[in-house]
Amino acid sequence: MEYDTLFLIKPNVTSRRKIGEILQIVEKNGFSIEMLRMFQMDMAIAEKFYAEHKEKSFYHKLIDFMTSGKTVAAVLHRTNAVPVLRELIGNTDFRQARVGTIRFLYADSITRNAVHASDSIESAQREIGIIFPDYIK
Ligand SMILES: Nc1ncnc2c1ncn2[C@@H]1O[C@H](COP(=O)(O)OP(=O)(O)OP(=O)(O)O)[C@@H](O)[C@H]1O
Ligand SMILES: [Mg+2]
Repeated sequence: MEYDTLFLIKPNVTSRRKIGEILQIVEKNGFSIEMLRMFQMDMAIAEKFYAEHKEKSFYHKLIDFMTSGKTVAAVLHRTNAVPVLRELIGNTDFRQARVGTIRFLYADSITRNAVHASDSIESAQREIGIIFPDYIK
């Protein structure tokens, strides 16, 4: 099945001029970029986006980081987009991430882990709605 997922390039990477390299990796792996946006998350967007983590110990650190600089957001389209992109980005903890994955290559810590990818089709639809409210599929 072909469908969309949401991808974010986080502030630790946008500040290091690695945006082009990472977009090249996703395109080389068969993803088509349907929407693309660069912006700095404000508190309202970050809190809405990460609402499921509100009670977690790392929540404030995560919100501080995500609002600290620019994020690149993309709607990516591919066959089996969600599991394929999750595989390509690697484990949340970069020390456990498979060699060659985006987090293996670009993460600085568990929080500053370079990228985000939606973890289900339902999450993808919710997250695309937050970042690209005007996107018509
Ligand atoms: N134990 C932790 N310590 C610090 N930060 C964490 C920890 N766990 C998760 N985070 C941060 O919170 C984000 C969301 O956590 P989640 O469990 O949804 O991981 P994920 O689904 O792999 O990552 P993402 O949602 O960003 O794709 C992580 O990407 C990371 O930046
Ligand atoms: Mg997640």
